[in-house]
Amino acid sequence: MEISASFLSSSLVLLLVLLLSLTYLLCHRPKNRAGGPPAKARQFVVQGRPFLDWSTDLLLKAPAATVAFPGGRVLTASPAVIEHILKTNFDNYPKGSRSNSSMADLLGDGIFNTDGHHWQIQRRIASLGFNNRSLRRYLTDVFHPEINDRLLPFLSRAAASGSTIDLQNLLERFAFDVVCRVGFGFDPALLVADAEDAGCKGGGRFARAYESALALILSRWRPHLWRIPRYLRIGNEAWLREELAILDDFAVRIVEDAKKTKKKNTATAESLIAPFIEAGGLSDRLLRDVVLNYVLAGRDTTSAALTWFFYLLSSQPAVRQRIFDEILAVRAKSGGSVGGMFDVEELKDMEYLHAAITETMRLYPPVPLDARSCAGNDVLPGGMKVKKGWSVNYNMYTMGRSEEIWGDDCREFRPERWLDREGAFQPESPFRFPIFYAGPRMCLGKEMAYMQMKAAAGAMVERFEFEVVGEELREHETVAVLRMKGGLPVRVTEVRRERVQ
Ligand code: HEM
Repeated sequence: MEISASFLSSSLVLLLVLLLSLTYLLCHRPKNRAGGPPAKARQFVVQGRPFLDWSTDLLLKAPAATVAFPGGRVLTASPAVIEHILKTNFDNYPKGSRSNSSMADLLGDGIFNTDGHHWQIQRRIASLGFNNRSLRRYLTDVFHPEINDRLLPFLSRAAASGSTIDLQNLLERFAFDVVCRVGFGFDPALLVADAEDAGCKGGGRFARAYESALALILSRWRPHLWRIPRYLRIGNEAWLREELAILDDFAVRIVEDAKKTKKKNTATAESLIAPFIEAGGLSDRLLRDVVLNYVLAGRDTTSAALTWFFYLLSSQPAVRQRIFDEILAVRAKSGGSVGGMFDVEELKDMEYLHAAITETMRLYPPVPLDARSCAGNDVLPGGMKVKKGWSVNYNMYTMGRSEEIWGDDCREFRPERWLDREGAFQPESPFRFPIFYAGPRMCLGKEMAYMQMKAAAGAMVERFEFEVVGEELREHETVAVLRMKGGLPVRVTEVRRERVQ
């Protein structure tokens, strides 16, 4: 009797596993791989509406801008709750195993995917790569050549031909080149006009594999169900495995190069990965993780911000004019001429441009959602009880649309809200504006990102005008960052200006 009971239960388990696998496969049938990542990962829709819009309506009506869903998920847009989880009660809100394990195939034990001691060590080493001296070097050695020799000539050609280009795609290629050059001294050359895979040392394949792998991992939204096809190496998980193999191969080569050039005065020896190699004693696997974590950090964040920036600017000629006038004034003060590259001081003086980019990210946060896991029972500000194992998610897209935080005109694009009477930029509390995160895990690349975005946006506004082609209202899609659905088709006009005296 006992034997048949255990046989029965084993059979039931097996049947269940097979049914789950079949369901998973039917829902996650691999699409045409050549066509890019699975469309499913790009959609996050509830009741027929994009999740961010749906949850914004919900949160703005909820008490303390916080709601709890069945299954232990809390969603909030409350600055007090954000301060509590990111700073005051930091130790009780790690990233947690749910997020860690799902992302582990891509991010391994890298800084984005670890907690505690492991994270602290990496944070200490990583911060060495973001000092002022390094930032100045990235500006002259990477941002300038990437903008002057690639981005602007590309736009000049587009203006001359009168063709429509996808500005989002261009900015993504720009950001990918930049993060690889700054990160590891590796140049994928995605912005080189006719760079096909062969011509750009396979950088294009690396970029595509990253995009697919990330989208496939983010489509693992059913907790733990993906483990079965992963184990069986079928469906999307088989596809993911192929993309990860490509990424591993690249990362390993990048690490090997970085080690070889460690002692020489090369771009690699001065890159973000250099302090990790200098530290010594880190395994090759962890160095691979460092590479893939940096790509995640810099890849689409700045390009998403700049895409929405140019989209907003196209319907705001007065804002565009103020940015242009500010550039003229900065050039006049420093004696610079149109087309010359901005130095650090000039970029600092562009306070209105800084405000306009910040205002863009308020309305279109590059990372619109983030989450923490609750390590022990707790009570959030506002009174909601949370239990061990629950996740607390916060929605920055909603926060930008909250009258309580930003006033009646919260849905308007108004860079002036960031300036004082003298026109100097006034930062906001990172808990009301957690775009770069807040507390001990605040984004390490914030200064670098602003420098990169201002250098590129300033040079583009100074020389070009962009007219958005097609329907005026653009929707978003979320693949970790807030991209523009369907890209941003624009026509480019070159505006030649006189040399500034
Ligand atoms: C507009 C551009 C950017 C935005 C909005 C942004 C935003 C963020 C956010 C929200 C986090 C926290 C993520 C989390 O832990 O869940 C973060 C962390 C981080 N960011 Fe950025 N980021 C930007 C650009 C960059 C760039 C260009 C780099 C460097 C290449 C960078 C490096 C990092 C690093 C290393 C962390 C991890 C910090 C830690 O966990 O201790 N970021 N960033």
